[in-house]
Amino acid sequence: MTELILALDVLTREEAVYIADKTAPYLDAIKIGYPLVLGAGMKIVHEIAGLGLPLIADFKVADIPNTNKLITEHAFQAGFSAIIAQGFTGSDSVEACVETAHDYGGSCYVVSEMSHPGALEFLSGENAARIAKMAVECGADGIIAPATRPERVKALREIIGSKKILSPGVGAQGGDAKEIAPLIDGMIVGRSIYNAEDPAKAAEEYSFIRR
Ligand code: XMP
Repeated sequence: MTELILALDVLTREEAVYIADKTAPYLDAIKIGYPLVLGAGMKIVHEIAGLGLPLIADFKVADIPNTNKLITEHAFQAGFSAIIAQGFTGSDSVEACVETAHDYGGSCYVVSEMSHPGALEFLSGENAARIAKMAVECGADGIIAPATRPERVKALREIIGSKKILSPGVGAQGGDAKEIAPLIDGMIVGRSIYNAEDPAKAAEEYSFIRR
């Protein structure tokens, strides 16, 4: 079974509450990042948490260890149950997020390789593999890897073993849900659900990955 994670990148409280409420029956978690918290404020996290689904903070935390710790504490106090950190900052910065997340009983996922074309300029191949290895050594719960490049997901799986892979890039970015789902633990989908005329129906159409 592969989990379905909604990337809730809408900009207003009203849209966020409406879409989260309609799609919740078909989801395993909701990912909230800068678009929504900058648009609606951090209080939206508490409100969406009321649906009872795990919430993943996509802040791609990428600072020095002390700042990473402060950001991660803030996220968990707001109601998130997992956080995404960048891996290129190095092991001390990643450890700060992992340890803080675990102190709160939550999880930390480390971005190893991103899904967009520009990611190939600096953070793919050997560097992505090194980040994935470091994420495991730091005790992270898993990595973020690109649904747009299944062959890279397979290669990163070899490195991380049974740690989780959460994967964005299906739908709007061109990734194929059927192809990627068997390779990963969680599929992150944004625009092709929240921009659909009927977001609940669009989410339900991805339900085959959860069986
Ligand atoms: P779409 O609309 O493209 O949304 O389905 C995808 C969501 O995932 C985020 N995203 C990424 N996050 N590493 C990440 O940590 C990535 O490689 C990556 N690619 C996309 C994006 O911000 C959006 O929320």
